[in-house]
Amino acid sequence: MKTIVLNASPRKNWNTAQLLKAAMAGAKSTGAEAEYIDLYDLNFTGCRSCMLCKRKDVKRCHCYWKDELSPVIDKVYSSDTLLIGTPIYFGRPTSQYFAFMERLRFSSLSYDDYSNYFKGSVSVGMFLTMNATKEFYDKLYKEKFEAYADEFKSLNGEVYLYPAYNTLQVDDYSKFNMSSFSEEEKKKVHEECFPIDLGNAYNLGVKLSQSNSVE
Ligand SMILES: Cc1cc2nc3c(=O)[nH]c(=O)nc-3n(C[C@H](O)[C@H](O)[C@H](O)COP(=O)(O)O)c2cc1C
Repeated sequence: MKTIVLNASPRKNWNTAQLLKAAMAGAKSTGAEAEYIDLYDLNFTGCRSCMLCKRKDVKRCHCYWKDELSPVIDKVYSSDTLLIGTPIYFGRPTSQYFAFMERLRFSSLSYDDYSNYFKGSVSVGMFLTMNATKEFYDKLYKEKFEAYADEFKSLNGEVYLYPAYNTLQVDDYSKFNMSSFSEEEKKKVHEECFPIDLGNAYNLGVKLSQSNSVE
């Protein structure tokens, strides 16, 4: 079983990365082979519209643009599980997340009949982190992010969305002009809720790997 883990947060050891590493540990505990990639370490852009993936008689589900993302797209299509995480930036996933998604999706889209060239199955766990509380998320973000998660249905596997709310953004709020946040509340959520999120992420990593190994 192969798991690919993509961190679409620029921060390598903060909330999104920690959730992904917990989920990866869960996947590995089932014997899955896992590879972790920080998307912000790679040099890439969104789809360049080169149209090479639409040429006649070429291999499908492959991005032909020569940069550091194309091998990652190949790895996703040949994995059993994709674990991907993004912080919420201005009510949306990050720019690197969108750039990745354009490339992933366009390379499997048929322009003959808009069908899906991808016939395999990759299960997906999508992790979100944010300043928003659950109440705010439910009201303003939930519907939109469920739609972003639904885009992974083109990978033909199960898709789970895991939002972690009200995350700690900096270690010491007293050093910043961030008075709209209560440091006390942020620390409390970080100490009491975030460990539960990490446990849930681990369990989701286990579940996704197991559901694939049954098949
Ligand atoms: C540029 C930027 C925009 C952000 N926009 C939002 C937002 O719209 N809603 C929100 O809830 N949090 C927002 N945040 C907070 C982050 O989503 C939150 O701190 C997240 O946990 C960061 O992930 P990381 O710790 O993995 O870097 C924003 C942070 C940054 C840096």
